[in-house]
Amino acid sequence: MGRRLKFNIFRYNPNDSNSVPHTDTFYLDETESMTLYIALSQIREEQDPSLQFDFCCRAGICGACAMMINGRPDLACKTLTKELPEEITLMPLPVFKLIGDLSVDTGTWFRDMNEKVESWVHTDKTFDPTAEEEKMDNVLAEEIYELDRCIECGCCVGACGTANMRQDFMGAAALNRIARFTLDPRDQRTEKEYFEVVGTDEGIFGCMGLLGCEDVCPKDLPLQDQLGNLRRKMGWSAIKHLFQIIRA
Ligand code: SF4
Ligand code: F3S
Ligand code: FES
Repeated sequence: MGRRLKFNIFRYNPNDSNSVPHTDTFYLDETESMTLYIALSQIREEQDPSLQFDFCCRAGICGACAMMINGRPDLACKTLTKELPEEITLMPLPVFKLIGDLSVDTGTWFRDMNEKVESWVHTDKTFDPTAEEEKMDNVLAEEIYELDRCIECGCCVGACGTANMRQDFMGAAALNRIARFTLDPRDQRTEKEYFEVVGTDEGIFGCMGLLGCEDVCPKDLPLQDQLGNLRRKMGWSAIKHLFQIIRA
């Protein structure tokens, strides 16, 4: 006999002045290999067509389905109900703007963040379509690729105490982006230019080392190492700058 699952789901439509934040309860019979994506789709099809939640790839690739699952940020499409107790509470990710129910606007947050940290290779070189492809050391290319695997799901931001308290804090995903460009030999930004972007209280010096980000990242990005490296690099940069001022 399979389990009967109880879902407590946060409901609120910020665009409806009559809507009040509350929790709705739904029941479902658990099926073999049921994911939260399957469960939520079934609830929407059979019990409440107004339920809002986001999904796109259903394969842990697009990052759209992140939500708070029993108090922990994770991807709903990759979460099997059998890994959870019979009672499951689903809330939207905090920090991001609520669209409705479990759906949040991570897109605007990530676009703003990418603009803020200037998330592109800065180079004076112009593109020459006839030139030979430039080679990159394999080990270095792997290292950069490792950090490029971020799917911008927002779990690390939702899990971060600092990001929850301070809207101006960049969050681990942004700091990971900068760490990725500091590794890239094609990016000609100087240490001072990187410092201006993340050597602030909104950036790496605002991170209190809580490490919830690494604990919940569904892509297992090495956030702890990267934030540590970035803190050291930016710390040295600040000290060097101080010595230059003293000497002058
Ligand atoms: Fe998601 Fe991990 Fe990227 Fe954060 S670093 S947005 S948790 S994939
Ligand atoms: Fe937040 Fe991660 Fe730093 S949880 S405080 S970004 S170590
Ligand atoms: Fe794309 Fe879950 S639907 S990651």
